[in-house]
Amino acid sequence: MTPEAHKKMIFVGLLFIALGLLLPGAARLYAQDSEITIDNPSAYQSKNRTAIYFSHENHMETFECLDCHHDYQNGENVLDEDELEEDGNARCAACHSKGASIELKTAYHRQCMGCHRLVNKQEDAGLPITCQDCHPRNPSIP
Ligand code: HEC
Ligand code: HEC
Ligand code: HEC
Ligand code: HEC
Repeated sequence: MTPEAHKKMIFVGLLFIALGLLLPGAARLYAQDSEITIDNPSAYQSKNRTAIYFSHENHMETFECLDCHHDYQNGENVLDEDELEEDGNARCAACHSKGASIELKTAYHRQCMGCHRLVNKQEDAGLPITCQDCHPRNPSIP
């Protein structure tokens, strides 16, 4: 590489860093992962099932953030969707922990299966509702 080309690369690199700093709002639009593996091994006494594949992207195309993400106070969802954070209020386990009125497994099951059942009833969509649909057999467990 010529020194000229090298300088150019550094300049372009700095430009991108500067843009990243100038556009935190734009960057945040891409902050949520499009594919998520739901796996909270330490939340359960023993974890028996395989991790769950969840296409956040497909679901985000069809639904509003607040259809799934919430913070209820006096029965009202007071969550501001601009403040969803990866390691905070976006994680179901942040609130549905041991001893909560709805524990973690129930929270996921009720939300995932509740909506799938409803949509299946409305339009015969065949969305996953059986255990095997979401928890495929783990080949490492005989
Ligand atoms: C159909 C339900 C659903 C919809 C709609 C949805 N999410 Fe999520 N989202 C989830 C679930 C489930 C998780 C995983 C939570 C966990 O790990 O406990 C998640 C995780 C996240 C996370 C953190 C984890 C990560 O890997 O990025 C962020 C941030 C987030 N969502 C933001 C959003 C935003 C912003 C929208 C709207 C544009 C949105 N979500 C729409 C269900 C949904
Ligand atoms: C900021 C705290 C908080 C987070 C994070 C949270 N919840 Fe909840 N959730 C609540 C509260 C409070 C209630 C009301 C019932 C209760 O007191 O447990 C509730 C109720 C529910 C209910 C029953 C009512 C309903 O809306 O159908 C389900 C199902 C549920 N949550 C699933 C989830 C899932 C799945 C996630 C992650 C995507 C999640 N929750 C994240 C606080 C939270
Ligand atoms: C508010 C309704 C709603 C909720 C909540 C919901 N789903 Fe879905 N799900 C759908 C719809 C509609 C489809 C089919 C179209 C699509 O992919 O958006 C679907 C499709 C799927 C599929 C098959 C196709 C694909 O996109 O991969 C899987 C697997 C799935 N959902 C898993 C989950 C899991 C796991 C959860 C809970 C963490 C969940 N869903 C929560 C409505 C929902
Ligand atoms: C729509 C998808 C979906 C369906 C259908 C479903 N689950 Fe789950 N299940 C989940 C998600 C998401 C979690 C959360 C995994 C985690 O937190 O690590 C979970 C967690 C669990 C857990 C606790 C964690 C573990 O691995 O031990 C058990 C047990 C479980 N499911 C059993 C079942 C059984 C039995 C059925 C059938 C009656 C079923 N599930 C159907 C999505 C689903």
